[in-house]
Amino acid sequence: MPDIPVPLEDELGDILEKAMLRSGLNEEALAKLADVAPARIRDAIDYRPDFTGVELSRLAAVLGLNEVGLCALGCGRYPLPNISVLPFCVYPLRMRHGIGMANAYVIAECGSRQGVLFDTGPGIGVLEEAWPRAIRGIEAVFLTHVEAEHAGGLCEVVKRFGVASAYCPTGATVPCGSPIGEGERRKFSAFEVTVLSTPGHASAHNCYLVRAPGARAGAALLISGDLIFAGSVGGAHFCPRQLADNVRRVLHAVPPATVIAPGHGPLTTVGHELRYNPFVT
Ligand SMILES: [Fe+2]
Repeated sequence: MPDIPVPLEDELGDILEKAMLRSGLNEEALAKLADVAPARIRDAIDYRPDFTGVELSRLAAVLGLNEVGLCALGCGRYPLPNISVLPFCVYPLRMRHGIGMANAYVIAECGSRQGVLFDTGPGIGVLEEAWPRAIRGIEAVFLTHVEAEHAGGLCEVVKRFGVASAYCPTGATVPCGSPIGEGERRKFSAFEVTVLSTPGHASAHNCYLVRAPGARAGAALLISGDLIFAGSVGGAHFCPRQLADNVRRVLHAVPPATVIAPGHGPLTTVGHELRYNPFVT
């Protein structure tokens, strides 16, 4: 597990923009309903927020957001949970893409040099720079969705690591990838992967639940792609309603102790996001 703090993917301005899009409100309408000056909404969107706690509560009420989470985020104090012990090893690969960072993950039996890769990042070059020294081979690759920052260079990754199976969400077409959809499972030596089909950010998007059924203890891991982040959700580029439905469905389908490994930002847990995520009410 990483020791270096990873910043949240979204700041208050990003949350407000996503919530305005979801509710169909523009800056002027939101400002009027929440009784704040429109210029201060624009300042927040430009990453210069200066709202009081009372104003953040009003904004949360107007936008239908989780008040506790929005206020914590607006005050720069969004809490992150302690990550519980997992029955396998997780290697987060944080890779630069443009002005942002994208995550991929290698999951492996602890001590093993073979792993399973979730997403490939922007391309083979940055993936190799972030690659964990402990891992030499990859049994399979699972893509959450086919966007440049998450699925770059899949064929090169397959070739470089001699990958036997590469999967992409049903409905996506990608060279070297085979479709995999809702409820399908793949077993590996120390864990199994179950697919949750979660369109919303993209028309073809999967989350992957990684569990070790034989382990005596330890939480499950949810590879959430761009569906759920710590403190936010992905942009609803394909369908806002489906994104909201799938966020709710996934968070209630797995135990609260489940660790979430998102496509951007830090690790979190299902229980934590049910309590604090601004988009979960
Ligand atoms: Fe992304």
